[in-house]
Amino acid sequence: MADLDLIKSKLDIVDVVLSYLPDLKKAGSNFKTHCPFHNEKTPSFMVNPSLQLFKCFGCGKVGDAITFIKEIERVEFKEALQIAAERAGVDITQNNQYQNNELKKQKERILEANTLTAKLFNYILSTHKSGKVGRDYAQKRGIDAARISKFLIGYAPNKTDNLKKFLLSKGFTEKELFEFGLLVERDKKFIDKFRHRLMQPVFSTKGEIIGFSGRYIGTFKDAPKYLNSPETPVYKKNQILYGLYHAKDSIRKNGFVILEEGNIDVLSSHRVGIENIVAPLGTAFTENQAVLIKKYTDTVYFCFDTDEAGIAALVRGIGILEDAGLKYKVINIDNFQDPDDLISKSPDLWIEKVGSPVDAVEYLIARFTKGQNLSTSEGKNNFAEKIVPVLRSIKNPISFSHYLNEVSVLVDVNPKIFEERFISKTASYKNKSTKNQEESVLYPKTMPENELKLLSFIIQNFKKIDAENFVPEVFSDSRLKELFIEIKRNLKSDNFSEVALALNDELKTIFSELVLKDLTGYKSVVETAKKLYSTLLEKYLRREILNLRKKVATDDEKTINELALKTKELKSLLQKIRST
Ligand code: CTP
Ligand code: MN
Repeated sequence: MADLDLIKSKLDIVDVVLSYLPDLKKAGSNFKTHCPFHNEKTPSFMVNPSLQLFKCFGCGKVGDAITFIKEIERVEFKEALQIAAERAGVDITQNNQYQNNELKKQKERILEANTLTAKLFNYILSTHKSGKVGRDYAQKRGIDAARISKFLIGYAPNKTDNLKKFLLSKGFTEKELFEFGLLVERDKKFIDKFRHRLMQPVFSTKGEIIGFSGRYIGTFKDAPKYLNSPETPVYKKNQILYGLYHAKDSIRKNGFVILEEGNIDVLSSHRVGIENIVAPLGTAFTENQAVLIKKYTDTVYFCFDTDEAGIAALVRGIGILEDAGLKYKVINIDNFQDPDDLISKSPDLWIEKVGSPVDAVEYLIARFTKGQNLSTSEGKNNFAEKIVPVLRSIKNPISFSHYLNEVSVLVDVNPKIFEERFISKTASYKNKSTKNQEESVLYPKTMPENELKLLSFIIQNFKKIDAENFVPEVFSDSRLKELFIEIKRNLKSDNFSEVALALNDELKTIFSELVLKDLTGYKSVVETAKKLYSTLLEKYLRREILNLRKKVATDDEKTINELALKTKELKSLLQKIRST
């Protein structure tokens, strides 16, 4: 057993949390107290013993016993592990050497598989006849031979076993390649993950190929535009930047880095001679990436997309750079969508724009006042709402005061009052930082609230509410339906970890969220759950009847019988609902 697993198996998260938070109290199948990580009046910090997880529904912090120690002691993971080991009575000094070696070996193997993969796809794109469609696409996007060779760009053909066969012949196993994110599972078989895609290897700052970003180049509408490597021991997506390896020299020479959103833009910019350019890989720009940038320069030129999402990302980005102590400006590309769009139309203009960056806050002020009538109260408020988070993130007092005065003039409020009323109320705003908002609900926000609620009742009180007899179809959301079926199959005892084992990652996330949901406010669990179930059952029957009616006109006897049955079922359900 690995150290981590051994330590975790000997620790109980309830004991651990209790030793720091003596007010932790039993609440249904969970334990509950005030969150130690943010200020709150009503407790929303939950701990679940079966899953050995904690989660605060207020600030969104979530994790296991080790994470808890790490957060509450404010230490690095390694030190948290050490503290946990002592508590658990496990000596971790002797095993380390062995484990380090194992990890090192695995890393080497991933890098080897990735390098072979990149070279194969690069060869196909450059010369092989099956790469024609890839070559046509590259040409259309202006990705020329020099870029293809420098960035080892490739083409993954539209086949399910092209890469698989190649790497198996090199001595890799399917299981390994699955773990490395090169194969995926489909119908109980492993197949190539990247198919019909322009392949962009991701380089570490040392030049190792640590993962891939693959852009779909076909016409099938449902295919995701980009597929990226999963996290592996060598690929931590919030700690790398696409293009950084090939930008390093130019960043040092120029004294700044251009931070934009897309991978292809990096290639286009290189083509026209501007090489100090990087992009986060499909994730929002993170603090870790800012720290990474800081190793090479103290100045960032933002050039995010010019749509609403890009502007929102810019506001967040400014906050991150302020916290990291980096300087920043904006490359204003007017109405061009992104750098690639501009470069494809006018390479010289790109070079000119990069040479004349503008002040980031001024840029946002101009953007946020555009289309607002600042002589009206509404216009002033709209503008203030957008610019306040920006002002709030500015650390330097001189800059802060400078922009505060400018904004105050625009909204015609005395700067002192503006600051008091809008800026200083940091608590209410700061706690609502975008990061926490995103994290506090892990499952997709679009899932039906009622179904989630019913499912959490079922999970926490499976036997009491006799959920064995519930029909899965009442869950209109296919993921929740699947989750319910798994729960029905596995939740004989209250062994949550057994259920969790049977679930894929997405369902596991939803499941642990529901296990931890605080239901202690409901008076009668059984009643509430049954009512909820009836409502959903009624909805389902009505849906079904509607579908069957549509079919009846053209279809067979079977449909007609089914319709009669469902109608009868609905009638008796309605009677039952009315009589209670
Ligand atoms: N991205 C991703 N997954 C997606 C969409 C985008 O990981 N489904 C990432 C990619 O790294 C991409 C970046 O976000 O490069 C920016 O996305 P987008 O602007 O949509 O793509 P472009 O790189 O501009 O690609 P193109 O010009 O071909 O549309
Ligand atoms: Mn683009």
